[in-house]
Amino acid sequence: MTKKTLLITGGTDGMGRALARTYLERGDTVVIVGRDRSKALPGATFIPADLSLISENQRVIETVNAEFPAVDVLVLCARYFRTNRFVTADGVEGTFALDYLSRFLLSHGLNGPGLIVNVSGPGQPTNLIRWHDPMLERAYDGVTAQFQAGKANDLLGVEFAARHGGRTRYVLMHPGGVSTSLAGEYDAATAAHVAALKRNGLPVEEGIKPIVALIDEPPAEPLSAWVRERRISVTTPAFDRQAASRLHDLTLKLITPSAALPPGTPPAPSS
Ligand SMILES: NC(=O)c1ccc[n+]([C@@H]2O[C@H](COP(=O)([O-])OP(=O)(O)OC[C@H]3O[C@@H](n4cnc5c(N)ncnc54)[C@H](OP(=O)(O)O)[C@@H]3O)[C@@H](O)[C@H]2O)c1
Repeated sequence: MTKKTLLITGGTDGMGRALARTYLERGDTVVIVGRDRSKALPGATFIPADLSLISENQRVIETVNAEFPAVDVLVLCARYFRTNRFVTADGVEGTFALDYLSRFLLSHGLNGPGLIVNVSGPGQPTNLIRWHDPMLERAYDGVTAQFQAGKANDLLGVEFAARHGGRTRYVLMHPGGVSTSLAGEYDAATAAHVAALKRNGLPVEEGIKPIVALIDEPPAEPLSAWVRERRISVTTPAFDRQAASRLHDLTLKLITPSAALPPGTPPAPSS
C-alpha cells in the first residue's frame, strides 16, 4: 500500500487517537492536533493547539502547509461538550467554534488534501441551524449546540464539494455510539447519559473500522455520507445547497472581523 500522510484533529484521544495508532503501525506519516501533549502517541508529530480559536487554526494551517505540503488525508475528530454556554476569545459560541468552525477553517485552509473525513453525525434536518441565533445567545443548551454543529458539518461538506469536489473527496461519517473519552463539562443528567453511552458504546477499535475502510478505499464521489458502513443519500433536503451556501456566507461574516481585529473583539452580528 502506498504510504500516506494523515492529519488528525482530536488525535490525542478517542477515535482520533485510535486512527493515529492504526496508521502509525502501517508506517504512514501521522500528524495529530490536540491540547494535551501527554496523550500524543510516540512516532506521531504533535501540534498542540486550542482549535476553538481562529488564530490557532490559522497557525496549524500555516505550519502544516509549510512542513507537510502533501497531506493526503485530513480527519476531523476534535470535539468537546459543554452543558453551560461558553464563548471563545473570538466571541464565538464554543461548540460552534470547535466542532464546526475549526473544521471549516482546516477544510478550506489546508493545501488540498485528497480526502477529508469529517467525523460527525450526518443526515439531520437543516432546521437544526439556528439561523437567527447561531451563537445560541437566546437559548443555549449543550445538546442543541452539538446538533447545530453536526448539521453545520453536513452543510460544510455540501459547499466544499460544490467548490472543490474536483480535487478533494469529502466524507461525512457518523460512527454510531462509541465508548471514547467523550470529554466535556456535563451536568448530572447529561453525565449519566454519557456514562451509559460509555458502557454500551462500541469499543474504540471497533468504532473506527468504517472510518479506516473509507480512508483505505475512498468513495469516488466528491461528497458522500455514511452511518457506519451504511451509505446515506446526499441528495435529500438534509444536504440542501442553498442552506450550505447560506451557512458558508454566515461563517465568513463571523470570522472576517475576528481575523482582522485583536482577540476578544466580538464578531459582527451574524443574522
Ligand atoms: N463517541 C461517539 O459516540 C460519537 C458519536 C457520534 C459522533 N462522534 C464524533 O466522532 C469524533 C471523535 O469523537 P470521540 O468521541 O473520539 O472524541 P473524544 O474521545 O471526546 O476526544 C476528543 C478529542 O478532541 C480534542 N479536543 C477537545 N477540545 C479541543 C480543543 N479545544 N482544541 C483541540 N482539540 C480539542 C481532544 O484532545 P485533548 O484532550 O488533547 O484536548 C481529544 O483528542 C467527534 O467528531 C465526534 O463528534 C462520536
